[in-house]
Amino acid sequence: MKNERGSWGSNIGFLMAAIGSAVGLGNIWGFPYKMGKSGGFTFLLIYLLLAVFVGFVIMMGELSMGRKTRQGVVGAYHSLSKRFPWVGWLAIFAPFIIMSFYAVLGGYCIDYMALNLSNLAFGGAELTSGADLFSAMLANQFGSVAFTLLFLLICYAINRGGISGGIEKFNNVGMPALFVMLVIIIIRSLTLPGAAEGLKFMLVPGYAVKAGFIASSPGLVTVLSAAGGQMFFSLSLAMGAMITYGSYLDKKENLVKNSAVIVVADTLVAFMAGIAVIPAAVSNGIRNGVEMSQIKLGGPSLLFITLQDVFREMGAAGPLFGVIFYLLVLIAAISSAISLVEVVSTFFLDRAARKGREGNRHKVVFWVCVAIMIEATIVALDGLGSNGLWVPGQAGGANIRPWNDCWLDFMDMMSEGVAMPLGSLLMSLMIGWEIKPKTLLNEIHHGSASNIDRFFSICIRFIVPLAMAFILLGQINDFFSLNLF
Ligand code: PFF
Repeated sequence: MKNERGSWGSNIGFLMAAIGSAVGLGNIWGFPYKMGKSGGFTFLLIYLLLAVFVGFVIMMGELSMGRKTRQGVVGAYHSLSKRFPWVGWLAIFAPFIIMSFYAVLGGYCIDYMALNLSNLAFGGAELTSGADLFSAMLANQFGSVAFTLLFLLICYAINRGGISGGIEKFNNVGMPALFVMLVIIIIRSLTLPGAAEGLKFMLVPGYAVKAGFIASSPGLVTVLSAAGGQMFFSLSLAMGAMITYGSYLDKKENLVKNSAVIVVADTLVAFMAGIAVIPAAVSNGIRNGVEMSQIKLGGPSLLFITLQDVFREMGAAGPLFGVIFYLLVLIAAISSAISLVEVVSTFFLDRAARKGREGNRHKVVFWVCVAIMIEATIVALDGLGSNGLWVPGQAGGANIRPWNDCWLDFMDMMSEGVAMPLGSLLMSLMIGWEIKPKTLLNEIHHGSASNIDRFFSICIRFIVPLAMAFILLGQINDFFSLNLF
């Protein structure tokens, strides 16, 4: 039976989708915060080095694995490797688990956008404070589940349209729109009084400690693993997303150039997101006399408490900026989530094709979204631990495991903390030492490019495994609070 896998309509469409996958919640709340906390420029420098020598290399590796085998992540590993065929399962487990909280956070974005929209449309009563709003939202279990469902319905509607008819179409509009909205928010943020303090937090080495945002600078290993973990999550690596997207790419496209564009665009947006949110958050804190150490600059609280307060206090234009901002974050979340849904869906579609059946995309995507909804319901009901749900690792009311205060942390620990760095460590060993770099190099550039060949081979054999081992250690140290460094 003919296998109609589908393909991207154009290289630009592919790039938009891959950048869409990379640009997500991780860019907006992870990068700026970790950068400020971990020494500003030191973090940026380490991040950039890792992005070039590790991220860019793995990006080329993943895209070429997908395109060479024309299969999703499980099939790709099976057909390339004798020693590590099972690594593909790790890379399908991680995205499925990540979706459990990504969908809930996406639902929160819809909630906040609707809230600002209704305020914009009807004006009226003063908005409640971000903290009150957030805790009310977490406590409202029905609402959280309903918004999660809405977010997943959007993903379902896009993914069922297929590669070019759904994912590509959404990103072709969504990515440029996101960029424009980001520029609008940056202009507003930088023109707020006290914005310079926020910029200094992000950029000036040691400023976060000097100005009292944090008590002390973290050590080098901690910075290395924070930057590495962030880079991996942000570039959507080691989760099968790039293998899957690469498997739908035309043979004639150059993977060196494409990988470089994705890495540069994602890093640029992370940096821009930092300039959009941190100065605004700091400015608001200063104006309200909040102690620097008390301003929440990272994680869900940055998005749903600190920034909501910024919009609340902006006066009449506040809700308008609120709508623009939460729509921007929502688009970023959707474009990443659909790549995660696609990793799992492609697996089932390829499996059906291997068995000689024609997989029904609508059905497959539907059931994948149903399965995600089930796990996401637990995370939504938990409300970041505020609703007293039992979390694995707790016994007799006491938390005997330090890594999981709530279901979101637990899911994050399994996926981002362990599966992701472990998966890419094994991937680099497979490419570098088992199947050998040249197996993929032909796929990467079709021809002779000795500089790239040498760069790719050295990085994938030596630098990537070493960096991955460090990152894995750092992530385990962090998630399990082992305090090894
Ligand atoms: N890159 C996304 C972010 O920065 O939020 C998250 C992500 C999406 C990770 C897709 C992995 C993935 F396969």
